[in-house]
Amino acid sequence: RVLRIGLIPGDGIGREVIPAGRRILEALPSSLGLKFEFSDLHAGFETFEKTGAALPRRTVDVLRGECDGALFGAVSSPSKAVKGYSSPIVALRKELDLYANIRPVKSVRTDRTAIDLVIARENTEDLYVKEEKTFERPASEGGRYAEAIKRISERASTRIATIAGEIALRRQKIREAGSSGSSIHKQPLVTITHKSNVLSKTDGLFREAARAALSAPQFQGAVAVEEQIVDSMAYKLFRQPGAYDVIVAPNLYGDILSDAAAALVGSLGLVPSANVGEGFAIGEPCHGSAPDIEGKGIANPIATLRSTALMLEFLNEEEAAAKIYAAVDANLEEGKLLTPDLGGKATTEEVVADILKRL
Ligand code: NAI
Ligand code: MG
Repeated sequence: RVLRIGLIPGDGIGREVIPAGRRILEALPSSLGLKFEFSDLHAGFETFEKTGAALPRRTVDVLRGECDGALFGAVSSPSKAVKGYSSPIVALRKELDLYANIRPVKSVRTDRTAIDLVIARENTEDLYVKEEKTFERPASEGGRYAEAIKRISERASTRIATIAGEIALRRQKIREAGSSGSSIHKQPLVTITHKSNVLSKTDGLFREAARAALSAPQFQGAVAVEEQIVDSMAYKLFRQPGAYDVIVAPNLYGDILSDAAAALVGSLGLVPSANVGEGFAIGEPCHGSAPDIEGKGIANPIATLRSTALMLEFLNEEEAAAKIYAAVDANLEEGKLLTPDLGGKATTEEVVADILKRL
């Protein structure tokens, strides 16, 4: 099988870590029967300054027309609004209908505080439809006010819950194959998180659609389903992170919970994500362009390597993905070659070389 992968380094350390993703794909054992071709593509703030477009048309066209998947580094967003600039990854999610944002969070340790969970965040709707309005009103009546639309659909809720169930089953398979280190979970579990006790129409619909999706025949008896109201979810996530396997959430809650969960494993440099649509996936490290360490050669490449594996999972190349995860885990478990964000002294290059050797 030949897979064509779009490479979009973006800004800052994106340019230092995305090449690591390419190298690990090229280093996969030939026994897997996989070949990779690459398309170098542009997006980001520097691209905007040069060309006037943060997401050039060609990038979208090549991804849509020629690629099976992609790796996206990071982009810098100016802290003040710049006319004509908007985030290219947000636009890409829309253009390619990447409806699921998948973020695994895994700790190196396997003790009581071990974490090995995945957050499946709905990526297209909820409050992030950005239909906001400001209204003028006399000060005597309370002054200006603003409103935002929270949109939840049965279709989007169903498909994010379905992918959550599929991820839970696949994790079980990878565990049974024993190829991805030890795990703290025995049985696939999906936790639906919402606030339907207050928002009975919107979150109520999310809950109902997710429940229905997860009672489909392929999940019956194989995936346990539970619910957790989002605020107590935040509490339990910090008290007992090991209790969760796959968490499915509407866009806003998923955004917040996934950043919070990332804090539990020590460094942003470890946490991968994937934007997933029908037959297409973009691996994307969760961190930004990190201007404070740009150009020093010390960015942690692991978030990108894990994002590369995650992309492969959604292109149905589980075996290749498992090999990358295992090589990364082995590097972390030994703990000798770590970048400074993890308290080590190694460079990006040294960590990549060590992981490639283990692969
Ligand atoms: P950031 O994630 O770039 O950096 C936060 C801190 O974590 C920094 O101290 C940085 O050095 C460290 N860090 C991040 N990734 C690391 C890695 N791989 N290895 C070692 N250390 C790492 O977030 P920040 O500083 O808030 O934002 C910087 C720029 O990135 C901004 O322009 C922001 O808009 C953009 N950004 C882009 C994102 C994306 O493209 N998806 C996500 C978050 C921020
Ligand atoms: Mg976020």
